[in-house]
Amino acid sequence: MRTYLVTGGAGFIGSNYIHYMFRKYGGSIRIINVDALTYAGNLENLKDVENQDNYTFIRADIRDREAIEKIFAENDIDRVVHFAAESHVDRSIRNPEIFVETNVLGTLVMLNAAKKAWELPDGTYKEDKRFLYVSTDEVYGSLEEGDTYFYETTPFAPHSPYSASKASGDMLTKAYWDTYRFPVNITSCSNNYGPYQFPEKLIPLIINNALQGKKLPVYGDGKNVRDWLYVDDHAKAIDMVQEKGRLGERYNIGGHNEKQNIEIVNIILETLQEMLSEDDPRKALVSKDLITYVEDRKGHDRRYAIAPDKIKEEIGWYPETMFKEGIRLTIQWFFEHEDWMKNVTSGDYQKYYEEMYQVK
Ligand code: NAD
Ligand code: TYD
Repeated sequence: MRTYLVTGGAGFIGSNYIHYMFRKYGGSIRIINVDALTYAGNLENLKDVENQDNYTFIRADIRDREAIEKIFAENDIDRVVHFAAESHVDRSIRNPEIFVETNVLGTLVMLNAAKKAWELPDGTYKEDKRFLYVSTDEVYGSLEEGDTYFYETTPFAPHSPYSASKASGDMLTKAYWDTYRFPVNITSCSNNYGPYQFPEKLIPLIINNALQGKKLPVYGDGKNVRDWLYVDDHAKAIDMVQEKGRLGERYNIGGHNEKQNIEIVNIILETLQEMLSEDDPRKALVSKDLITYVEDRKGHDRRYAIAPDKIKEEIGWYPETMFKEGIRLTIQWFFEHEDWMKNVTSGDYQKYYEEMYQVK
């Protein structure tokens, strides 16, 4: 039975990936989820799989070399899917250090532990082992007027502490292929959305605020563009890259779904209006009057957009979920998981929100 080590599996994309993999492979794979459970990690995301024999959760920090080496020593790991990271740009602007510690040094610990476990005396590796680093399109910087898309060959030009730290982890991973022929893949994906996303990110924050009649903070002129990818499509792409991708290669994963932030906010408001029943008291709260333009993010990248040509041509993956459908699925999930939202927005989230947006 193939064993996957998933880091950051209690976060947004990691938990969706674990669900996707169990839906696809059922009992024929084993998953070990290694997560430190930071503010962004939530075991509630995995409640429905936690009692499965082929699922194990280990609370460990990827910066902890001993703990990570022990996991490799005690388990015959075939695949590593490395999601664990500090993932929010705004937090990185306020506190960059933890981003370097987790996203750079933590990645180095993961690479070294896997290399130590998989390396044979002659310097080659045990058969059929793979390490995948989940990178981001933000490593490529920002597209400006007249630019087309990010390609795998686009030079790196990260601007935020978050993207600089992800770019470092990304380059270290590539260096392990170039130097040691350690079996890696790197995927750079665009902005994800879907169930279990923490409401510090644009889409769940807007859904959550709108349903409570709270202001909807839009940075700058609201015309920054992101390329939205439904999280299940991303999970599928990662699996396909590990199955069919050429070793040492990078694959960009994008949703073919470019939208300005203000368009996203308007679509969410319209979709909420369509989906809420007439007798739901929240319907009267959801209004475009809530839109509030606030101070721009420092160093705010203007546009991200991916042409996922390489992954389509080489591997046959393409984004299947149209935004119109994906946003309805996401909103429906949030309707059905009000308690999840209440739990994650209590305590520390309130403090973060008040400091970040200077509101009570
Ligand atoms: P997330 O913040 O929701 O989850 C991160 C997870 O990592 C959490 O469960 C957290 O507890 C865990 N973690 C953090 N520090 C850790 C540490 N030191 N040791 C062990 N676990 C730790 O993030 P996400 O949105 O699910 O993103 C997952 C990955 O995908 C990240 O690497 C991120 O850079 C990348 N990515 C995300 C997006 C996006 O739109 N969300 C886009 C491109 C790339
Ligand atoms: P975000 O979800 O933080 O993802 P990223 O910064 O990694 O792209 O933000 C998406 C876009 O939405 C980005 O251009 C910043 C903007 N944004 C707002 O306008 N208001 C908000 O409250 C947040 C969180 C983001």
